[in-house]
Amino acid sequence: MSPPLVVTIDGPAGAGKSTVARRLARRLGYRLLDTGAIYRAVAITALARGVDLDDEPALGAIAAGLAIDFAFEGDVNHVFVDGADVTAAIRTPEASKAASLVSRHPAVRAGLLALQRRLGGGGGVVVEGRDTGTVVFPQAGAKFFLTASDEERARRRQLELEASGGAVPPFEHTLREIRERDDRDASRDVAPMVAADDAVIVDSSTASLDEVIEQIAAEVARRVG
Ligand code: DC
Repeated sequence: MSPPLVVTIDGPAGAGKSTVARRLARRLGYRLLDTGAIYRAVAITALARGVDLDDEPALGAIAAGLAIDFAFEGDVNHVFVDGADVTAAIRTPEASKAASLVSRHPAVRAGLLALQRRLGGGGGVVVEGRDTGTVVFPQAGAKFFLTASDEERARRRQLELEASGGAVPPFEHTLREIRERDDRDASRDVAPMVAADDAVIVDSSTASLDEVIEQIAAEVARRVG
């Protein structure tokens, strides 16, 4: 039996990464590292401090000094910045857009790299994000790229917004926002969202999340041996 792996799950917004990563981590007895939450934490810190989202040096300084902690309560992965619970604040549509904007800057990505490697160090961890299999953990033991059609991802986002009790915008609006964010995340110069050459591509458009988790867990079991 080989040592516990780093398992990476990358892919676009709304493909089901968070749910799949959380349930997979629980099933394997692994830790969970949500790297998107880290970019979101930088974004809301910048917004709270009135830092321009184009001000790369200031954003890089926030990233380099970010004091972030995670703690599971039941099924919810709580996120703390400087000791304050920001779990809900990082999930608003504004925070999503701001996270994508701050993540374009090389200084931000560089500032967060060591943090992500430290948090995921030692293996026995499921890491989710955009570049976790390509840049953060290129030696990961199992890599997945989880995707789904734009329409299906927008539909899921609408359901999430509905479930959280927030205002639900028209479907076309959510679809446009998702496409804009994907375009930005996939076309940036540094660490763009892309499947690693050795990633298994999983399309969740028509599969249920249960089926996706079964497929990924079976693949991980094969790698662990
Ligand atoms: O996965 P998420 O929706 O919480 O991520 C929010 C944004 O953070 C995403 O639009 C791009 C950025 N991000 C990134 O650039 N690299 C990662 N590994 C994770 C997220």
